[in-house]
Amino acid sequence: MRIAVIGTGYVGLVTGVALADLGNDVICVDNNPDKVALIQSGRSPIYEPGIEEFITRNLDEGRLRVSGSAAEATQQSEIVFIAVGTPPSADGSPDITAVVAAAKEVAKGISKYTLVVNKSTVPVGSGEMVADLLREAGVDDSLFDVVSNPEFLREGSAIWDTMNPDRIIIGAKSREAAARLIELYQPLDKPVLVTDLQSAELIKYASNCFLAMKISFINALSRMCEACDGNVGDVAKGIGLDHRIGPAFLGAGLGWGGSCLPKDTAGMIRVAESMGYDFRLLKEVVAINDEQPRHFIDRMEERLGGLSGKTIAMLGLAFKPNTDDIRDAKALVIAEDIRARGGKVRAFDPVAMDNVRALDTQISLSDNAYACCDGADAVLLVTEWNEFKQLDFGKIGTLVKNKVLFDGRRIYSKESLGKFGFEVFTIGSP
Ligand code: UGA
Repeated sequence: MRIAVIGTGYVGLVTGVALADLGNDVICVDNNPDKVALIQSGRSPIYEPGIEEFITRNLDEGRLRVSGSAAEATQQSEIVFIAVGTPPSADGSPDITAVVAAAKEVAKGISKYTLVVNKSTVPVGSGEMVADLLREAGVDDSLFDVVSNPEFLREGSAIWDTMNPDRIIIGAKSREAAARLIELYQPLDKPVLVTDLQSAELIKYASNCFLAMKISFINALSRMCEACDGNVGDVAKGIGLDHRIGPAFLGAGLGWGGSCLPKDTAGMIRVAESMGYDFRLLKEVVAINDEQPRHFIDRMEERLGGLSGKTIAMLGLAFKPNTDDIRDAKALVIAEDIRARGGKVRAFDPVAMDNVRALDTQISLSDNAYACCDGADAVLLVTEWNEFKQLDFGKIGTLVKNKVLFDGRRIYSKESLGKFGFEVFTIGSP
């Protein structure tokens, strides 16, 4: 099929290259000429393991093209995906300016029947809004359908997630409107749920909010475990073995961050408010998440007898491993908190340091984990990169001022680090 994908962020670019790889003719569109040139040269504007291989293969084999014009790409396509960003506005509600702009450009390119697919995370009612924009631009109703097809990929495993989705959600006014999309996804051989537009839009928000709720739930339990000498890892295993609960997203830690869960929980609260519903449960999910890193730093402050003048070696800056993304990363919140309590933060991250350099933070950056720990009063693990799992703690013990480690992601065993004389503080353990 001939497909245009508007937007080359995580969702758009990954969707574009995945659909090209499945044998479709895809045009990826971005209004930023630098991104267009970069992709055309086989490189990726986002950090995502494996994506450049997909870009070059599909460019070389002629299935992938890149363009700066959404209107032109629409003209040449049967299906157009709108996959632009919907960042949070100041009040937490999603900013859909880019979706509106994309819809207006798409309208200019429709001269034959075109299926317009909303893949961006958008508030309920946005599908209807896109249809209205097309009509206002003079596109006849017979020439288009707008459907919602939310994306569930995770940064760091985006290509695998796109090729192996648990489910495909299609929100459409009629089964006929959904038919072409069902055909497009047929090679993936995954369950497809066809529903109305509003429900599809809600499913996307509800999924991210439910995941956030699971993590906040286990983080609330981590506080109880710390108080009663329990072990939150075992509690998570114990409840996760119940198939009605499931083991995923029960990893206690410093809380959820990134560009999606914080944005979508805040967005859902605002969307619910706009419908006259006060989503109190979700507000508490957010409050628990905000409290979690503060509480861990309280423990650190208590152990070190204050943070004033202390240097903390922070391992990890990205909001999770396998990404350079620092949007809403817990590392930044924690660094600010430590600084506010009089301490200094020195950090190392395998890929996210350039993004931190571009911000105005007071975090000093080291070339590697060992340099980061040199002379530190305590070590704090924030992002569970694989390369932090097998560090030489014998060597780190000779570098640090105090052999005290705060494990914010539960990757170290107290026994194995104890052998090197380290005192280990773990979230969810006494
Ligand atoms: C999330 C969803 O998982 C995807 O399904 C969705 O498509 C995506 O948002 C989106 O809306 O685009 P992502 O933001 O890439 O994906 O990251 P996750 O893997 O969900 O992790 C989110 C945060 O939760 C991270 O800070 C991670 O450290 C934290 N987390 C995750 C935990 O603290 N514990 C866990 O058990 C799992």
